[in-house]
Amino acid sequence: MTSLLRTAPRALRTATLTSRAIPLIHQQFRLKHDHLNPPEGNPAVTGRSPPEPPREEAIALKNNTLSGSYLGTTRRLPEFNLNDKVVLVTGAARGLGLVQSEALLEAGATVYALDRLEEPSADFYRVQKRAAEELGTTLHYRQIDVRDVPQLNEIIQSISESQGKMDGLITAAGIQQETSALDYSQKDANMMLEVNVTGTLMAAQAVAKEMIRHGRGGSIAMIASMSGSVANKGLICPVYNASKAGVLQLARNLAMEWGIHGIRVNTISPGYIVTAMVEELFIKYPERRHDWPTQNMLGKLSQPGEYRGAGVFLISDASSFMTGSDLKIDGGHTAW
Ligand SMILES: NC(=O)c1ccc[n+]([C@@H]2O[C@H](COP(=O)([O-])OP(=O)(O)OC[C@H]3O[C@@H](n4cnc5c(N)ncnc54)[C@H](O)[C@@H]3O)[C@@H](O)[C@H]2O)c1
Repeated sequence: MTSLLRTAPRALRTATLTSRAIPLIHQQFRLKHDHLNPPEGNPAVTGRSPPEPPREEAIALKNNTLSGSYLGTTRRLPEFNLNDKVVLVTGAARGLGLVQSEALLEAGATVYALDRLEEPSADFYRVQKRAAEELGTTLHYRQIDVRDVPQLNEIIQSISESQGKMDGLITAAGIQQETSALDYSQKDANMMLEVNVTGTLMAAQAVAKEMIRHGRGGSIAMIASMSGSVANKGLICPVYNASKAGVLQLARNLAMEWGIHGIRVNTISPGYIVTAMVEELFIKYPERRHDWPTQNMLGKLSQPGEYRGAGVFLISDASSFMTGSDLKIDGGHTAW
């Protein structure tokens, strides 16, 4: 032990030998907390309680005839309840981002969809109508390219000011490009990284600043991909895969920096999802429709709806002790 200490770096030896060195080390790494002064974590939102059960549920419960199970809205798993929370979702004009938005709305959140499309998909309007008429909440749309950082900041600040809070963010805005590494241009590679990595960081940064300003903590879930952990067999997307690996690592670092503010940062890594984007690919490469399902343990491709629970789980208090982590939902694709 003594000889080990002799060869250890000076700072480590000092830290090991004298307890007086501990505050110095904290100072050096700007740690604000220790075991006597721990961070408070995700602060409970004061005055927030589950909403009244929907009318049909109240009747069903009273009569004891129907099952009447409205998860998170009464005493059943209330930690999933997002009532009174404001959540932003990038890339939510369609696809996975829109599906996440609908799930958040069902859990009670007020949702702002941020997307570069001038006009969101027709399905967006169905969800918006449903939010207003059935779910007692609202879905808003803001057109923004995540690469336009000044405007992105302006939009996020104005949402935060008008709502008086900022509780969550799901980043689903992303692009994909199939080009071999030998042919990839610098311009295309930069664009991929700018949207998928820098755009994710800039959205998270703007939201985190507002979360810190309101002092209520918050939760950020970034859509990464199983492609951030493996090279997809036969799918030639070197920069996309690198960008998703970047998102995975970015989340760990943001979690480390923002944990003291009660902000949690995690990722979701989906496997192949049959979204409009993938359906288009199947027209060009019909063999993939049959090949891809053989590459995971469940022998099928996933539907966007199979990720609904993941976003709600990560944004809600149900995951209050989870940060810097990845939820891999890929049918076992990367497990063998
Ligand atoms: N579909 C899959 O198989 C799959 C698998 C793993 C991960 N993902 C990831 O899930 C996310 C959503 O993918 P999807 O399949 O729903 O694709 P999609 O193309 O249907 O949706 C992506 C959305 O992001 C928006 N967007 C793109 N660039 C933007 C920018 N610069 N600024 C603002 N918005 C922008 C698009 O307009 C679109 O509405 C992406 O991050 C994707 O990488 C998809």
